[in-house]
Amino acid sequence: MKLFLDTANLEDIKTAVSLGVIDGITTNPSLVAKEGASLEERISEIARICDGPISAEVMGTKYKDMVREAEQLAGIAENVVVKIPLTDEGLKATKILSEKNIKTNLTLIFSLNQAVLAAKAGASYVSPFVGRIDDIGWDGMLLVEEIVSTFIMYGIDTEVIAASIRHPRHVTEATRIGCDIATVPKDVLMKMLEHPLTDKGIDKFLKDWENSQN
Ligand code: E4P
Repeated sequence: MKLFLDTANLEDIKTAVSLGVIDGITTNPSLVAKEGASLEERISEIARICDGPISAEVMGTKYKDMVREAEQLAGIAENVVVKIPLTDEGLKATKILSEKNIKTNLTLIFSLNQAVLAAKAGASYVSPFVGRIDDIGWDGMLLVEEIVSTFIMYGIDTEVIAASIRHPRHVTEATRIGCDIATVPKDVLMKMLEHPLTDKGIDKFLKDWENSQN
């Protein structure tokens, strides 16, 4: 199970990478816009901090524009993965990029059919958006489970990224169903490591030790 950080914030990336548990980074246009940085500049800064896969999304909606932007993004660092929205144009771009050995992460996946189409076009990763499905009253993790089990059944090597993760329980569920990767915001990462009984246990050990020294 790999863990990616879902952010374009450099401080959050440095903090998380220093914990030694981060295998890659995902960004999207909203996350980069929040930082007020240019996409190319920010991706190259992230690449200096993290040597795992870094997803950077194209803004174009036509396949030729997507391919052109993808080639620019892939030229920033060898670990850049180009994020492409799941549309007809996105599929065409993915096919071309896979033939050029440029890695892609097909994003905004909300159905098994979309995930299968992405894999057939040669996507390296698919990103089903768990939280956004939960938001409309469905079960986002059921979709992840469907995609993971289908890819195993057909021997598809496209990796599945559980995205739009909102709380630690989402990560637990993704882990239990054998999802390849979960991409988490920093607050979810920090909540994953916290437990009140751990804090209580440390306090007790320290107090018992201090008392034994008097
Ligand atoms: C995934 O790669 C996306 O960047 C992200 O997980 C979207 O999450 P949100 O639904 O919380 O915006």
